[in-house]
Amino acid sequence: MKQFLSAHDVSDIKALVQRALEHKAAPQANKDFGAGKRIGLLFLNPSMRTRLSTQVAAQNLGMEAIVFNIGSEGWALEFEDGAIMNGTTVEHVKDAAPIMGNYFDILAIRTFPSLKNREEDYSERYIQQFVKYAGIPVVSLESATLHPLQSLTDVITITENWNKAHGPWTMDHGQKKPKVVLTWAPHVKALPQCVANSFAQWINAWGEAEFVITHPEGYELDEQFTRGATIIHNQDEALKDADFVYVKNWSSYQQYGQVLNNDPSWMLTLEKLKSTNDAKVMHCLPVRRNLELSDEVLDSSHSIVTQEAANRVWAAQAVLEAILKEGK
Ligand code: CP
Repeated sequence: MKQFLSAHDVSDIKALVQRALEHKAAPQANKDFGAGKRIGLLFLNPSMRTRLSTQVAAQNLGMEAIVFNIGSEGWALEFEDGAIMNGTTVEHVKDAAPIMGNYFDILAIRTFPSLKNREEDYSERYIQQFVKYAGIPVVSLESATLHPLQSLTDVITITENWNKAHGPWTMDHGQKKPKVVLTWAPHVKALPQCVANSFAQWINAWGEAEFVITHPEGYELDEQFTRGATIIHNQDEALKDADFVYVKNWSSYQQYGQVLNNDPSWMLTLEKLKSTNDAKVMHCLPVRRNLELSDEVLDSSHSIVTQEAANRVWAAQAVLEAILKEGK
């Protein structure tokens, strides 16, 4: 693997999921693989799970991980080509990224969208500038439009739970595919579309689920990610017979970055789960309780959000190992 910015960087998702589950079974079995290698984790935005899980994953491989909260502690970066830097920015990414490329073997970056300029956000300008100028493999820790480490984790978590309930995957023998439903949830703030875009991209690329997306009208995601999924605006209809329900808020893509609807009836409850196939409930976290997801669901046996967050380590470990392997 040369970089990890989206599902398109992975040639075989099922093999990567399998490798992650092997790491889970034996976390330090490959503990010298990354000896002498260093990863830089750059955060332009806050994080808990992504930061800690990637550090643990790197350490499990024997790598050194250095965290830099560049957004709050670094020089303000300029991304505009040809900018006359007489404003608030202090250092151009053209100058900063190659230096990081010398300090590290892998550069991992979190950079959220502005939610003001759709064209700019969807061009992934910030992370692409690091790819262009760093000269080393870049891993997304969540970018303007995608969150691939989260989505790989989500596929791992679905695989693990489905296998536990039904035995190892035997799709070739006509076994039922799990019904996976991505449902929009209310929120008070305008959130990026990244997690939802990325989940849709990965579930589609994985190809092992009956995939349904449900949201109020006006919350349609970019079709480049959702193509192949069934989109239903009636949440009750969408949830019927679901095996996995993935809950997430996102702001509007069409009326870019706006909150169009905060209808509390979209919050998932135990009552709504009655029509499902005793569905497992997922969320990337952090979650706003009793706004996005009710206490009764999060505290019930339906919820696998802690297992999902714990699996972030194995996703990161499989990705870092695959990138290091490419360089050997
Ligand atoms: N899910 C996730 O990315 O969590 P953090 O924002 O805490 O890293």
